[in-house]
Amino acid sequence: MKDKLLIAALKRQGTERVPFWFMRQAGRYLPEYRHLRGTCKGFLDLCYTPDKAAEVTLQPVRRFGMDAAILFSDILVVPHALGCELAFVEGEGPKLKPIESKSGLATLSLSRVEVHIQPVLQTVRQAKAQLAADKTLIGFAGSPWTVACYMIEGGSSREFEKAKRFIQEQPGIFSKLITLLEQATLLYLKAQVDAGAEVIQLFDSWAGLLSPAEFSHWVIAPTRRIAQELKKTFPHIPIIGFPRLAGTCYVEYARDTGVDGVSVDQTAKLGALCGENIVLQGNLDPYSLAHDLPGALAQARQLCQQMRGRPYIFNLGHGMLPQTPVEHVEALCYMLKDPYA
Ligand code: CP3
Repeated sequence: MKDKLLIAALKRQGTERVPFWFMRQAGRYLPEYRHLRGTCKGFLDLCYTPDKAAEVTLQPVRRFGMDAAILFSDILVVPHALGCELAFVEGEGPKLKPIESKSGLATLSLSRVEVHIQPVLQTVRQAKAQLAADKTLIGFAGSPWTVACYMIEGGSSREFEKAKRFIQEQPGIFSKLITLLEQATLLYLKAQVDAGAEVIQLFDSWAGLLSPAEFSHWVIAPTRRIAQELKKTFPHIPIIGFPRLAGTCYVEYARDTGVDGVSVDQTAKLGALCGENIVLQGNLDPYSLAHDLPGALAQARQLCQQMRGRPYIFNLGHGMLPQTPVEHVEALCYMLKDPYA
């Protein structure tokens, strides 16, 4: 049987058309998402209710026909499963009980993870059962550095100063936290694959905050260990890494982590990366899709032309913005079904 488009691209096989999906393709820009979200007590309730989470996973694919569905969940499910208190406050984003020292680390444990993630695994099974056979189901997790950022900071931040300082001031505890996150993430990802995920994406949204030496230590090394271990059990499952804002470190990341594909943000020059024998994903500016449809379509067409004949997966440089008009997404998807027309 021929591989599905997304998987074929990740295996560097030629594809008759560029496969496409969007980070945060399920979410607030979709009226059907807002409707279902309104029936839940909160965002986490939606994440842990398999019938609803599976439905939300499939909504964008049904409407627009992307080549992949991404599991509807959140990267903060892993700290939650480790025992970290977590809440999503309306209009403010995630709030976690911050890890500040050795005693904070001691409150976390791998022992609860397996039971905690069961509803998410059920979502994977249900979404997979309902997904069309020519579409791919993507499972995901946050990478240890990015998840640690939220755990140390206690929520979102512009610069994650507390996390950056933690590396310097408590290197031993920080290293233990990263190791624990590696273990939990691996367990979580293996379980997602067992439940039916066909591709895995690792989100390292805050990779760009680190110096090159820190990037090697806290982005590349943990990602390499997770990818190696996952591939020991599942050698055929492709992995996409997204070290957002990695700039000149993207090439080193692709070479040294062993991931199959690299997702790049909108500030990266694809031209500078496409000679490097990397399977690339992404790059369209989500702001242009939200606010300048003609500009976004022109940029998207140009990306497809530039990457023609090379292994490439069309995506945004970061998640879909909530204010993105549905009509813009519709027009982009229509164009992507025949980008060389
Ligand atoms: O469609 C998809 O991409 C799948 C679902 C998904 C969500 N979050 C749903 C979500 C995925 C893959 C994520 C990943 C995620 N979560 C990341 C990495 C990617 C990135 O955006 O950088 C991060 C950093 C998080 C943590 C997180 N979750 C934050 C900081 C927030 C609040 C900010 C915001 O956009 O509201 C969330 C909430 C969240 N995760 C929403 C969704 C659809 C919005 C919640 C709502 O409906 O109220």
